[in-house]
Amino acid sequence: MSMPGKSKMKTIAIYSLKGGVGKSTFAVNLAWASATLSARRTLLWDLDPQGASTYLLAPEAEARDSARAVFSRDVDPRELARPTTIPNLDLLAADTSLYGLERLLFELSKKKRLSKLLDNLEKSYDRVLLDCPPGLTETAEQVLHAADILIVPVVPSPLARKSLDDLVSTLVQRGGKHPPILPVFSMVDRRRKLHAAALEAYPDWPVVGYASLVEQMGVKRLPVGAFASQSTAAAQFAAIWSAIERRLAQD
Ligand SMILES: Nc1ncnc2c1ncn2[C@@H]1O[C@H](COP(=O)(O)OP(=O)(O)OP(=O)(O)O)[C@@H](O)[C@H]1O
Ligand SMILES: [Mg+2]
Repeated sequence: MSMPGKSKMKTIAIYSLKGGVGKSTFAVNLAWASATLSARRTLLWDLDPQGASTYLLAPEAEARDSARAVFSRDVDPRELARPTTIPNLDLLAADTSLYGLERLLFELSKKKRLSKLLDNLEKSYDRVLLDCPPGLTETAEQVLHAADILIVPVVPSPLARKSLDDLVSTLVQRGGKHPPILPVFSMVDRRRKLHAAALEAYPDWPVVGYASLVEQMGVKRLPVGAFASQSTAAAQFAAIWSAIERRLAQD
């Protein structure tokens, strides 16, 4: 039996083969929910050289060039993690050095590098969220070894099922184990017939609606919960976070 408040660190990856489906948006808002609603010591680790979640959370980030060095073992990830303006939430920022990460990981040929780095964070954090670049990259290989759960945003369409099936068959072809997958509908507009039909086909998948408030995150550079805590969008991300916590508690 685990002691209350003494749970093991869990790693939650926001991942998909497709680009532009809302991964970074989920990463930032779920990290906010973890830190704020669950009062967990939370780290958001931005693994995408595009740095979308870094942009959203770190208005004053100094331009650095060390994100890749964590993987070549010159730098301890704890030294690079920085507090954000949100209590309990630290950020391990992306920078353009991550554009070289694919090559480094390929050359290192150590599939568990990220898992080992995460082991070092056990004492410092309860929850680590990984914002991943799209596609089956070397970074993704590391993530698939390291994560306890994969959150996969799916934009509703007749191809929604296919995009998830493609992911599952890609993971099967790749061999080895992969973490459990939790699909979530992203950018849903219920007035659109195809969206409504997709939601009807998968009534169990959690939903985040298309909302201008979510787009405004890029202007405010904050998670929606931090500037619109009573909004539908904030409630939807909170509900998904609760579902993730429930799933993690089953392990
Ligand atoms: N629920 C939403 N409502 C409105 N706009 C949204 C919503 N979710 C995401 N967006 C917008 O869609 C765009 C893509 O989202 P995001 O960057 O989170 O996707 P991504 O999957 O991380 O993309 P990439 O694959 O490039 O990393 C962003 O401009 C974001 O603001
Ligand atoms: Mg992204």
